[in-house]
Amino acid sequence: MNDQPGWKRDFPYEAAAEDEVTRREFARYLVLGSGAMAFGAVGMAAWTQLRSINVGEPREVVALDEVAVGGTFLFRYPTAADPAVLLRTSEDDVVAFSQKCTHLGCVVFFQADEDRWHCPCHEGNFDATTGAVLSGPPTRPLGKIEVEVRNGTIWALGREES
Ligand code: FES
Repeated sequence: MNDQPGWKRDFPYEAAAEDEVTRREFARYLVLGSGAMAFGAVGMAAWTQLRSINVGEPREVVALDEVAVGGTFLFRYPTAADPAVLLRTSEDDVVAFSQKCTHLGCVVFFQADEDRWHCPCHEGNFDATTGAVLSGPPTRPLGKIEVEVRNGTIWALGREES
């Protein structure tokens, strides 16, 4: 044993052990591993795009004639922990949104004189009927709630995830 060169004592690997993982096999594992990770990333992206965008079950919110044209009504949707607000924009039309500002989650309220949703925390503003960002730090629109008037009653049908 002592007659072995120093490098052999420090690296006691036989040539036969190299067969366990050849350079070619190692490269193959690298390619397969990279391919699996790329496939997983593409799959996650596709799943994110294809998943259902609506959450919440259809349910009654309030009678249409209880909300004046230009008036708002606060409710909770899709769960009791989710503040939401609807705006009656005309005799027959209603829009509704999550009341959570998409910046840092403060509560937005309707400014009738400016015809917009306003977040007082950092002066964020959203379009009254689309929820699109008008100004301020938010970068995403308000979470829209699909609503419909059925036989004089406003129904919430689902909330779009944003
Ligand atoms: S939380 Fe609404 S603008 Fe910042």
